[in-house]
Amino acid sequence: MHDSEKIKRAVQQYYSQDAGQFYDKTRFAGLGGQVRHLRELNTIRQLTGDVAGQKILEVGCGTGRFSESLLQSKAQVTVLDFSPAMLDYTKRRLSHHPDFSLLRADAEYLPFKDNQFDGVLSVKLVSHFANPQKVLNEFQRVVNPGGWVIVDANNLFRLDFPLVFLKKYFNFSLHYFAQKNMYSSYLTPWQIEKLYQIHGLSRQALVGVGLLPKLPALIKRLGVDDFVGLDINLCKNKILRYVTPMCVMLYKKGE
Ligand SMILES: C[S@@+](CC[C@H](N)C(=O)[O-])C[C@H]1O[C@@H](n2cnc3c(N)ncnc32)[C@H](O)[C@@H]1O
Repeated sequence: MHDSEKIKRAVQQYYSQDAGQFYDKTRFAGLGGQVRHLRELNTIRQLTGDVAGQKILEVGCGTGRFSESLLQSKAQVTVLDFSPAMLDYTKRRLSHHPDFSLLRADAEYLPFKDNQFDGVLSVKLVSHFANPQKVLNEFQRVVNPGGWVIVDANNLFRLDFPLVFLKKYFNFSLHYFAQKNMYSSYLTPWQIEKLYQIHGLSRQALVGVGLLPKLPALIKRLGVDDFVGLDINLCKNKILRYVTPMCVMLYKKGE
């Protein structure tokens, strides 16, 4: 079996176990987890702007935390993942929204014709591919001319790099850094620049998320929204974004 197929199988197996409520509980529970979730959510909201009436595809939806917010903002959302366990959970989570459809498919072979969506959102998915070009080309293909694509990448030069280093090279077990047999790339800023160039899409923004530590006292004093705003503004800075854990990129497809 080709290496990329092995990686895909391992990722699929991983997300059939680390699914649903368990996935959210181990990442987004408690004050720190909530702040992490809100930072990511607010970054995506800032980048998409008003989505009311837009037809949006979320690829690798996981537990549907972004799709839920898009639906609340009156978008029509198609939610896609290849883990049946994740989709089951998401289906229940979104069941009271009228405007969504749910699909089990592989992100590298999207079952859509060209130019079908106003926007494609994919968070924490592309890093699971050793060669992300195929999946990025699929996003470009299915989005309308003038439409947007949002993806993210893990930055190897993040400030907590020593932990990532241990995980990457020694498969070191530490809370949810322990993801044995599961591929997740950490790229240098110049690898991100190179690998995330997508033919037919032009990059409009690159922002960082999660630069500031999750200090409960600071969060309380500033309020979560201010805290998130400060985080995003700091990470727009060209130098600071080189040490942010997560880079989020917004692209536009030419008209
Ligand atoms: C780290 S989770 C992210 C979930 C969600 N986007 C979030 O940020 O909370 C990655 C998700 O991508 C899905 N996934 C991974 N590889 C995929 C592929 N080739 N096709 C479709 N979904 C995939 C997994 O099943 C999992 O639900």
